[in-house]
Amino acid sequence: MTRQIFLNGVFLPEDQAHIPVMDRGLLFADAIYEVTALLDGRMIDNDLHLARLERSLTEIGIPLPIPLDQIRDMQIELARRHSLTDGTIYMQVSRGVEERNFIPSAGLTPTFLAFTQPKKLYGTPAQENGVAVALMPDPRWTRRDIKTVMLLGQVLVKQQAKADGFDDVWMYEDGCITEGGSSTAFIITAEGTIVTRPNSSAILPGCTRQAVMTLAKETGLTLQERAIRVDELHAASEAFLTSASSLVQPVVRLGPHVIGDGTPGPMTRRLQDIYITAARQGERIV
Ligand code: PDD
Repeated sequence: MTRQIFLNGVFLPEDQAHIPVMDRGLLFADAIYEVTALLDGRMIDNDLHLARLERSLTEIGIPLPIPLDQIRDMQIELARRHSLTDGTIYMQVSRGVEERNFIPSAGLTPTFLAFTQPKKLYGTPAQENGVAVALMPDPRWTRRDIKTVMLLGQVLVKQQAKADGFDDVWMYEDGCITEGGSSTAFIITAEGTIVTRPNSSAILPGCTRQAVMTLAKETGLTLQERAIRVDELHAASEAFLTSASSLVQPVVRLGPHVIGDGTPGPMTRRLQDIYITAARQGERIV
């Protein structure tokens, strides 16, 4: 099936979906986005993604274009039209269209678009073998809790990481890891404690992070929310990252450090299993 685009209330073939040049998303990155994963025809953690979509919009004063239950219906329709069972559903809301001017007029109509992206998320080489992650200074602004499309910082560090022979990147600031280039960072200490940074304006409050932490607690695993120091990474027994599109992703190298024996560790494997099992209990929509 070919991809359909949802744009401002209408489903369109990709070559008929157009956005005006004066859209503030294009000119100012005055827009937010969300990504929900689809696995075996089921949306994963979608309620968390919809809640964060609403929160991001509220933080920058863009109205919700349509109610959340209608957004959910639209996501389902989009996936069905594409017959997409595995991949992601991307959504973006910009403040709207008007003559270029830093200060927007009140009452603009938001531009709301969404599309599907087929992608194998589970059983991939990265899921099976883990990834090598570069460490780089965090180049971003200070409101990283808002899921804005202003992603140039991440584009540049990810590009550099790839050029340096890594699969992905974790960023740091003041001697501590903030988060991954498009993911939440976790380590597991030698004592078996799962550690991740607490939510604040320094990081995006990851939906996968929240779901994994809830499942880990229910399973009786030990969790600690604190900053991860760059100088403690070498002593981590395991590491992983989470995001809608990478689920629970083992990390086997962090900068110069090989983590554990260089293969995904047992607790990471367990968290992958727990997360996938929970995801497969969701309602099938495609
Ligand atoms: N990115 N931190 C950053 C900077 C991210 O861009 C993402 C997700 C996350 C993880 O959030 P979640 O678990 O809710 O996906 C953390 C998406 C997948 C992207 O940009 O494609």
